[in-house]
Amino acid sequence: MNTLVTKLDYKWIRLTLRRPWKTAATASKARLATLPPGPVVPSKKPFKVELVAGKRYSWCTCGHSSKQPFCDGAHRTKAPGRSPLRFVPEEDATLWLCGCKYSADPPYCDGTHKQDFIVSATLHEQADP
Ligand code: FES
Repeated sequence: MNTLVTKLDYKWIRLTLRRPWKTAATASKARLATLPPGPVVPSKKPFKVELVAGKRYSWCTCGHSSKQPFCDGAHRTKAPGRSPLRFVPEEDATLWLCGCKYSADPPYCDGTHKQDFIVSATLHEQADP
């Protein structure tokens, strides 16, 4: 019987037994390192918006858009890894969309902007085009 380990066997063994000594702490650090950065705060107040039923909207999640509260594509260069939250209202409505980007119920304002970490946050200044 041939006991030599072929390149394919070696690769299979290496992938199967990949880092058995990896600790949970190391694993979470690796995951955190790949998370996109948190949003900047473009406004400390929500935006009152008239939404049209059936129309597709893209709510900015990175805070870099100059068309707040909607996306202008700025995340592609200023916040890679983030993407807008797309939604389609079922009926015409006037709603308050989150401007601080930290609402727990995006894209809607849930009052999070009244919390200390938003009140004391530095407002993000839009760069001139
Ligand atoms: S503006 Fe973000 S929760 Fe109100």
